[in-house]
Amino acid sequence: MTVKEYVNFRKDEMKNLVLKMDKKPCIAIVQVNEDAGSNAYVKGKLKDANELGINADLIKLPLNTKQEELLEIIDQLNKDKVHDGFIVQMPLPKGIDEETIKLAVSPNKDVDGFHPLSKLSPCTPKGIMNYLHHENIPILGKNAVVIGRSNIVGKPMAKLLLKESANVTVLHSKTSFEDMARYIENADIIVIAIGKKHFLDNKFKYKKSAVIIDVGISRDESGLHGDALPDLPVYLQTPVPGGVGLLTRLALYENLLELVSK
Ligand code: GUN
Repeated sequence: MTVKEYVNFRKDEMKNLVLKMDKKPCIAIVQVNEDAGSNAYVKGKLKDANELGINADLIKLPLNTKQEELLEIIDQLNKDKVHDGFIVQMPLPKGIDEETIKLAVSPNKDVDGFHPLSKLSPCTPKGIMNYLHHENIPILGKNAVVIGRSNIVGKPMAKLLLKESANVTVLHSKTSFEDMARYIENADIIVIAIGKKHFLDNKFKYKKSAVIIDVGISRDESGLHGDALPDLPVYLQTPVPGGVGLLTRLALYENLLELVSK
């Protein structure tokens, strides 16, 4: 199935689950930025909530919000009985420390899975794993290459792949081109999240059976682009747009439903 087909299929299942609940789940989304990517993400998350029958409150704060003010709002959300979970959309403006904010969210309400004590996984890696499982992509003993080492994607992605016994290699900005080419050529699964338009292209060789999961999004005059050139000669490649963004949004509500069913 394409990502879009899979997401629609899973949304139908989740909609039915929500219908059977005594109380509609409720999420809050805190947004303290105005970047185009976040606006698009938040709009998508609100649309998904609506489709799934989940209540969602957007709490939009001005760009000059101070860290203490944000911490105060997080404290209220941690304590209130209305919201089952909430997220603080990243990135945050300069002057607010993202790690401090992630740690301030109670693990009991952390639907992003960012808190070290959270039992949930971060949405992007979780959404990707769910899709790989659904497509029956073998993971155990396979060569998985994660390109990019961010806290939101690269590191938790490597951890989840390792948990399922893949041979995981994390490549990054200090990896030489020769090493990059060597690992990519032998990779069964490539997850790339670096935000560099079409970094993976025909200068690299790929296994015909390889799976490329394209997390990157960059925007220029001609539109949105992934980290991989479309239609590389591999078994499966997720598109941008219409790929990992949808999986991330879906995983957020999978996490929320997991929280409320506990
Ligand atoms: N910014 C990009 N991806 C995410 C995400 O999964 N959660 C939050 N809170 N912010 C993001």
